This record gives sequence, C-alpha cells and structure tokens, in this order.
Amino acid sequence: MSVSPVELRRHGAISLVTIDHPPVNALSAAVVAGLRAAVDAFADDAASRALVIGCAGRTFVAGADIAEFALPSFSAAPLNELLARIEALEKIVVATMHGYAFGGGLELALACHHRVATRETQFAFPEVSLGLIPGSLGTQRLPRLVGAARALDLITTGRRIDATAALDAHLIDGVHDGAPLAHGIDVAQALVAAHATPRRTRALASDAGGLPPAFFVEARARASPAYPAHAAAVDAVAASALPFAEGERVEAAAFEALRRSPQARALQHLFFARRRAGRVPGLDPAARARTVRTVGIVGGGTMGRGIAMSFLNAGIPVTLVESTRDAMERAAAGIRDTYAGSVARGKLAADDAERRAALLRVETDDAALADRDLVIEAVYEDLPLKERVLARLGRTCKPGATIASNTSTLDLDVLARATDRPADVVGMHFFSPAHVMRLLEIVRGAATAPDVLLTAIDVARTLGKLPVVAGVCYGFIGNRMLEPYLRETEFLLLEGATPDAIDTAMEAFGMAMGPCRMLDMAGIDVGANVVMAQQVAGRLPADPAYRVVVRRLFDAGRLGQKSGAGYYRYEGRRATPDPAVPALIGELARNLGVAQRTAIDGSEIVERLLFPLVNEGARILEEGIASRASDLDVVWTAGYGFPDYRGGPMLHADTLGLAQLVGGLAAYGRARGDAFGYWTPSNLLVRLAQMNRPLASWEAGS
Ligand SMILES: NC(=O)c1ccc[n+]([C@@H]2O[C@H](COP(=O)([O-])OP(=O)(O)OC[C@H]3O[C@@H](n4cnc5c(N)ncnc54)[C@H](O)[C@@H]3O)[C@@H](O)[C@H]2O)c1
Repeated sequence: MSVSPVELRRHGAISLVTIDHPPVNALSAAVVAGLRAAVDAFADDAASRALVIGCAGRTFVAGADIAEFALPSFSAAPLNELLARIEALEKIVVATMHGYAFGGGLELALACHHRVATRETQFAFPEVSLGLIPGSLGTQRLPRLVGAARALDLITTGRRIDATAALDAHLIDGVHDGAPLAHGIDVAQALVAAHATPRRTRALASDAGGLPPAFFVEARARASPAYPAHAAAVDAVAASALPFAEGERVEAAAFEALRRSPQARALQHLFFARRRAGRVPGLDPAARARTVRTVGIVGGGTMGRGIAMSFLNAGIPVTLVESTRDAMERAAAGIRDTYAGSVARGKLAADDAERRAALLRVETDDAALADRDLVIEAVYEDLPLKERVLARLGRTCKPGATIASNTSTLDLDVLARATDRPADVVGMHFFSPAHVMRLLEIVRGAATAPDVLLTAIDVARTLGKLPVVAGVCYGFIGNRMLEPYLRETEFLLLEGATPDAIDTAMEAFGMAMGPCRMLDMAGIDVGANVVMAQQVAGRLPADPAYRVVVRRLFDAGRLGQKSGAGYYRYEGRRATPDPAVPALIGELARNLGVAQRTAIDGSEIVERLLFPLVNEGARILEEGIASRASDLDVVWTAGYGFPDYRGGPMLHADTLGLAQLVGGLAAYGRARGDAFGYWTPSNLLVRLAQMNRPLASWEAGS
C-alpha cells in the first residue's frame, strides 16, 4: 500500500492527480516527490491525453510547508524543477482549485496550462508576511499572466483576492460552482476535444519592460527598509522583463538572501509563536472547552463596550448589565455610535451594523445573566466593588457557566474566591480598544478548572483574537514587562533626555509609538493611578525617584491627549514638544539630586528601555507565569507595538546575544548603581548566556 500523499488515477483519456495531505495540502518534500512520480507516469502513459491536478479535503495547496523551508537545508530546487517539468509537458495540464491557492500552491497552478477554480477560492502570495518573496517562480510567472503592476501589488501586500477578481485579472481561466475534481476532468476533456495545445506561462511576455521607468524606481523607494522582502519583490517583478531564465536567477538569489535574513527569521518565529500561543502544556488531555453560545458582560464602560462588540461582531448575543438605567443607555448608545461611525467611514455595511446591534440586550439587573454561558465583568478597577460583583455572579450564574474578569491589576485568585466557585473563574484581559486589539491575555488562577481555561482560549479564537495564557502576578505578561520600560523612560527624562528624544529613539528602533506618546494616548491619569495604587499597596521600591514624572504631570493636570497636554502639547492628535515639560522635569531632578546631561544618545535610550524589559520577561518565565518565551513575543508584538520584523523582545535578545545582554545589564548596574535590583540579571538569562542557548525558544521544562 502506498503512503504517498499523491494519487494518480485515469478517467478515460484524462489522468487525475489528487494531493491528499491534511490539513492544508502543503507542499512538503513528500508531496513534491509524489507529484514528480505522478507527472512522470502521466508523461509515459500514451493513452492519457491530459492531466488534472487537484486536491482532496477543504482546500487546494495552501502553501509550502513553512516548517520545512525554515530549515537551513531547504532548497526550492526540487519544486522549481517539478514546475518546469509540468510546464514543459506536451500534453495539457489543468489546475483545479478550491479553498485557498496560496504561495507555493498558486505557483503550482501558475505552472499549469489552464486554471479553474470554484467561486469561493481565494488566491494570495503571503510570503512577505514571512519575510520572503515567492521562491518558485511566482515573481516571474504572475506578471506574465496578470501584468507587472498587479503582480507587484499582490506580492508586496500579500492581499487575498477571490475567484471573480482572479478571473478578471486573467490569473485563472474559469470559475464554477461544481465539484473541483469532476469539473477539472470536464475542462480537460473539453480542451482535448478542442485540440488545445499547452499555453505555457513562461512563454508569455511580461509587460514589466513597457511600464514607465519611474514605476519600479518609485516602488522601490516606497519599500520599507525594515522589510527587505518588499524591495526584493520589486526587483524580482522588474526582472520579469528579462528572459525567463535570467528572471529566475534574480528571484532565486533574492529568495535565498531573504531566507537567511534576520527579518525572515523574526517573522517566521512569530508565525509559529502565534500558533503555539494558547496551547497549554500539562493540561488534562480529556478536558474540553465548554460551549459558549451566549455571553453576559457586567460594566459598559470603555472596556465593557469594546468586549461586547467583539462578541457581537462574531455573531454571539450579548446581555450587558450596567449599574443604572442611565449608564445602561449610554453604553447601548456608545456601541450604536461606534457602529454608525464604521458605517459612515465605509468600513461596515449598514445591514451588518444593524444585525450586530440587534444581538445586544442591555439590563440593570444581574438576574438577566442567569442563563448565560460566559459572563465577563468589566466594572471599575476597584477590589471591594469587583468582589461584590463577583460574589453576586457566583450566586446568579448557572452551574457550568464560565465567569471571567477583565481586571488589569487585581489578584485573580482573590476575585475567584469571592464567587465561591473559583474553579469556574478565569481572567480575560482584553486590550483597549477591545473590539480592535487582537491580543487577549488569558489569566489562569490557582483554582481555574482546565475546561474553564480551555473555554477562555476557545472563545478568544472564536473572536479572532490571539490568546496567550499567563499566571497570576501583578501586570500579567504585558504590563509587567512594561513597568521597567516606563521606569527607565522616566529615569532618562530625569537625566535630561526629552520626551521627543526618547520617542524618536524607540520609534527608530521600530516601536509603533514611543513610550511618552503612548502614555499621552492612554492617559497620564491612567498611568499615574497605577503607580499610586502600587504605592498604597506598598509595592513600590524605596526609591524616591521611582515614576515621579508621571505623577508630577498628573498633579499638574496634564492628562495627555485628552486634556491637550501631557508629555507633549496637542492640537487635536498632533503632538508638539512643550518646553514646560523639560522645565518641570528639571525641577524634579534638582529636588531629587539627579544630575542632568545634555546629550543622551539613541543607543543608550534603546538599551536602557529594552534590557530591563527582556530581563523582566526572563523573570516571568522563571516564575512560571508564562510557559514559553515565544508567548512574550506574541504579547509584545500584538499588544505593545514591538516591531514584528525583530520578532519580539525575546528573539531580539537572542539577536543581540544573551552574553552581551547580561554584560550590558551588569554595566548599567555599575554605572547607575543597583540599590533596587533594577539591573540584576535574572538567573535564567545568566544560565542561558553561559550555556550559549537561545532565549526565544525556551519552554517550561526544556
Ligand atoms: N481601559 C483600559 O485600557 C483597560 C484595559 C484592560 C483592562 N481594563 C480593565 O477593565 C475594567 C473596566 O475598565 P474601563 O476602562 O472599561 O472602565 P470604565 O470606567 O470605562 O467603565 C467601568 C464601567 O463599570 C460600570 N459599573 C460600575 N459598577 C458597576 C456595577 N456594580 N454593575 C454594573 N456596572 C458597573 C460603570 O458604570 C462604568 O460604565 C477594569 O477592571 C480595568 O482595569 C481596562
């Protein structure tokens, strides 16, 4: 019995190759070898007049096997030779597609002589999202079929197009609503009957040479240096004007260089990191997520509304409970207004908005939550209030319901106990705006039942979010790592760096937004309140300079964007440096006896902010708050604007070198003093640096 994922059968005069390699028929080495054997057999079969290539299961070939092509030993040569062989066949080859024809799958189709697809099929070259360009002649064949301008757009954006658009673009030759394999055979029979001859994509002319010379120059100028795949795509598509073999060499050289680039490594690290996130090691394998068909939310403020919309957008009915009739109506109106805004901006169809809003029910009585499968509380961040709310939910919610808290800073175990059924309780820490941000930290309490944890993870996926599991600690993963980052921001400000110098350095590193601009956007009051609450809880270091700046700005009524002034002055959202801020900080520095310097260079700013952040990440791992380092990279790239092309802080640490990082922490400790342990390297970092082992692939128990 053959174990090949590729099967060849003859139907009269037509041969059919079926790829059956679940889940997505990826072009693994075994699939390529199987296809090669099938193509050879077809070529030798004198009674067979045409070949149809299609797939079993839910999709056509959805891409290469990413795990394989990240290997140092990977070579595109076997696939490229196979595609050249298919294209050169004297008998007609038809690709029949359904589901997704992505990346290597689309390249396979491009090498066939005729392409048909079911109406729901989607087409894309997603390689750029992995730091690559198509490496099996996609950059050469696509422009020959659809034109260089459209090809460049598809390759540099990774955008998906549907079958209708693909037909309009001449990417495919036919769209149908039938069964993919049977239809492919019909098409092949018709082509044979019409005495059609192979139409080879490589023999077509690309229009790349006919475009105005400025086209590629400008496209290259627009390509971000942070993503070298973009410029490489421009060069490769431009090379489609050359003879095919020369364009092939350009693509191959660029693909190989990109494959070894740090950006490709980072983006592929994140691809796998996102897939792993939300898998919980050591969980009872028999545990299953509970079914969630209806949801309740307590508190209809900023977060409650955003959380409600996340569910409504996914088609899940929500009952939202507020404390007063007034607040209840404000919440409902706020949600309707947000939808109306999306409709006005053309982002949402009016009937979709209506359908979503119709799934919302608002109430003032918790009793309305009694039959909900999942209830999430998002009331003020106030322990006694949350304890009261959770105690009531513990009594009101039906047996088997999952009870979640959106707390950012409170102890989930304390909240869970308040319900008197702590096994049903889990943290679901959404990020603001909750209906937009993909990150969702799932907080596992000491008593959280395995099926409750799985329920939260499952719900996150249903909402299209990225779940990352954290244990109970102050700030969970993201905000805990943010703390040393903001702490050092403020120390640098006291030493004389301006908010603009700090933000510029961090944005040049690749952060979506520097820390001062970020705090102004989130609200200085929010930042200051966190510090003050920590002070009340006795958790601040005995350092008089600790986070004094944000508290001083708060006292001065500079609340950030919303009050028109924070670290910057604002006209609308436009920030301009405000000389009042260095003056105010200078006074603080004098009072604290901090010596100010005139010039603090960008590299010191980046190191001072990132070294302690990575160090805190390593402590989180040591303490078992997260079970793998790559989860931290998911949190920081998805929730905090850390550049994806650097792979997240943990991978960035490996790129720097852990020995370098540990040495850097020690050097800053010596230069600045380490009375409060700010610079003490974590044991895990020191150990991995000594063993010369990477941090980003660290997992609990590894
Ligand atoms: N704002 C953020 O960026 C953010 C991010 C993550 C998590 N959180 C957490 O989300 C929670 C809510 O924060 P927010 O920013 O939405 O606050 P918010 O002040 O905007 O909203 C809180 C809402 O709770 C309502 N409320 C108070 N007591 C209630 C009760 N007994 N029953 C029903 N409703 C009641 C209030 O009327 C108010 O509308 C907090 O725990 C906060 O820490 C906030």
